[in-house]
Amino acid sequence: MKNIVLLPGDGLGPEVMAQAARVIGWFNDNFDANIQTTEGDIGGGSYDKHGTPLSDDTLEKCRKADAVLLGAVGGPKWDKVDYALRPEAGLLKLRKELDLFANLRPAKVFDALIDASTLKPEVVKGLDILIVRELTGGVYFGEPRGIEKLPNGERRGVNTQVYTTHEIVRVARVAFELAKLRGNKVCSCEKANVMESGKLWREEVTALHAAEYKDVALSHMYADNCAMQLLRNPAQFDVIVTDNLFGDILSDEASMLTGSLGMLPSASLGAEKNGKRAAVYEPIHGSAPDIAGKNIANPLATILSAAMMFRYSFNLSKEADLLEAAVESVLAKNLRTADIMPTKDKGGCKQLSTSDMGAAVIAELESLKAAKAA
Ligand code: IPM
Ligand code: MG
Repeated sequence: MKNIVLLPGDGLGPEVMAQAARVIGWFNDNFDANIQTTEGDIGGGSYDKHGTPLSDDTLEKCRKADAVLLGAVGGPKWDKVDYALRPEAGLLKLRKELDLFANLRPAKVFDALIDASTLKPEVVKGLDILIVRELTGGVYFGEPRGIEKLPNGERRGVNTQVYTTHEIVRVARVAFELAKLRGNKVCSCEKANVMESGKLWREEVTALHAAEYKDVALSHMYADNCAMQLLRNPAQFDVIVTDNLFGDILSDEASMLTGSLGMLPSASLGAEKNGKRAAVYEPIHGSAPDIAGKNIANPLATILSAAMMFRYSFNLSKEADLLEAAVESVLAKNLRTADIMPTKDKGGCKQLSTSDMGAAVIAELESLKAAKAA
């Protein structure tokens, strides 16, 4: 039995999570996936109910679970709440408490959605990049931090970018290991030209490569150049490994190469301890309060996050392949949610609601299963 916690969160979180839960149910019924789910509160909804965006109770549930699947957090409703109690703080605390230092953000261009990208088709066709973002260090968590009042009446805001050897090495190791399963290339990004933490990053990655991963092609790039290269020639990249802040920015940029934020899943992984690895899976899109509750959101990023969970937490790679294939073939049949509808000419595409998209994935799973059995 595998135990997972579903944290639907805010905005469109509950709607997209409901579809992922249906899909998980299908794998229980059809493949003995044996996944038992419980729900928990996180984000603004948790703040409203419990006065905190992540209660000890939810955190404890997540600690005990084999994996966590999260929807989205945040919304304008909580804009005035103190930083430490904001919905986002709940997510950051979950990452920190579970020590989820490696954030995997694939940016894959689906053939059927190639025209959704703002870049030319020939630039993005077949694109398959994996960004490995350090997630529990750097400027997000560095001390000192805060806003202070100066004697002259001015105010001063401070955050600290800080990395230690082991923080760099463990995330770089994840990147090298994953590269071996893919295109065997790692590009490490920092700003070693202006930041000591970047210089250390480059030195540690270089040393790890020389000691253990000579068979993987390693390059280094300044993060600003990487931002530019992602638009100029994204196909040059296989795995990109970078720090927390650059990873936040570069992964948003990379996601847009695919033209569809609503399609992209992610995994946040901790270290393996006694055969178990803490893991949170979530779509990379936000809570989109403007479209929440309308049954029009795209549930595919959350469904694909469940596929990543099958693969990375449960070793169910056949099930993960099947689910990804089902999503591809739904798209190939021109079924779309509003966010990925072609804007000018509908091109034979049919617009589905959130729940109908969930149903379409399940119908596709059924027919793929039947085709296999035949
Ligand atoms: C992300 C988000 C978060 C981050 C926010 C919601 C705190 O942008 O997961 O990329 O900055 O890490
Ligand atoms: Mg972000």
